[in-house]
Amino acid sequence: MSGQTLAQMAVEVLSTADGREKTALSRRHAATWFASRDAGDPLPIGTALPPLRPARPDRPELLDPRDVPRRRPGSAQGRLAILHAVAHIELNAVDLHWDIIARFGHVPMPIGFYDDWVKSADEESKHFNLICDCLEAHGSHYGALPAHAGMWRAAEDTAQDLMGRLAVVPMVLEARGLDVTPGMIEIFRKAGDTAAIEAMQVIYAEEVHHVAYGSKWFHFLCGRQNTDPTQAFHELVRTYFHGALKPPFNEEKRAEAGIPPDFYWPLADQPSSKA
Ligand SMILES: [Fe+2]
Ligand SMILES: [Fe+2]
Repeated sequence: MSGQTLAQMAVEVLSTADGREKTALSRRHAATWFASRDAGDPLPIGTALPPLRPARPDRPELLDPRDVPRRRPGSAQGRLAILHAVAHIELNAVDLHWDIIARFGHVPMPIGFYDDWVKSADEESKHFNLICDCLEAHGSHYGALPAHAGMWRAAEDTAQDLMGRLAVVPMVLEARGLDVTPGMIEIFRKAGDTAAIEAMQVIYAEEVHHVAYGSKWFHFLCGRQNTDPTQAFHELVRTYFHGALKPPFNEEKRAEAGIPPDFYWPLADQPSSKA
């Protein structure tokens, strides 16, 4: 047994810079947590001070999104760029899930809240490894291309607000993943890249649960405070998320994850703006 609290384990992952080392530690800590749960003797949650920003490797170079070079998605270089961008998102997601555990330890939550985010962090770690394997199979690696800076902004903006964090991270950003992943799978299908298709299908299947955990705990907190979830969601997204939500939405998968249309349509770009 590690003798650590769950919050300390979370901070340890957040403080590990190398991607593969971070995900290996994340998976080890998740296994330790669930072993303690299965034994009926869960590790204490504890409190810890997570770093404002997680440790990250020297590479990739982080650029303003406007400065990240665009590549044609139909080309081999374009597909590598997509895989690299997904790896970056997955590594960020590993940190996001451990951060919610460490940062909000002062808010009393049922133990299932921790189960859900530890499981999510474990799955994101697997996703990062799967996508890195794809990059490496093509002679590339995570760090070979520049990546978007500012991925951590949502975490910083909501560092004081658990409901804001749930609204913006799983219920907006991860829900967006459900919208765009089928299109990415199609790109790799056209290229006949079986390993990438399989990795993306694992991601697509598991991300629904992360969105659902967000919705579950958001509704739980609304119930605790006796606030209207739809209205609270709109207010929090307008406060913490910069810009409108982009249709088309994956209404089927969003419904599966417990996000009804009246949550997102009022926050969307108007269809007329596409003209
Ligand atoms: Fe993921
Ligand atoms: Fe996720």
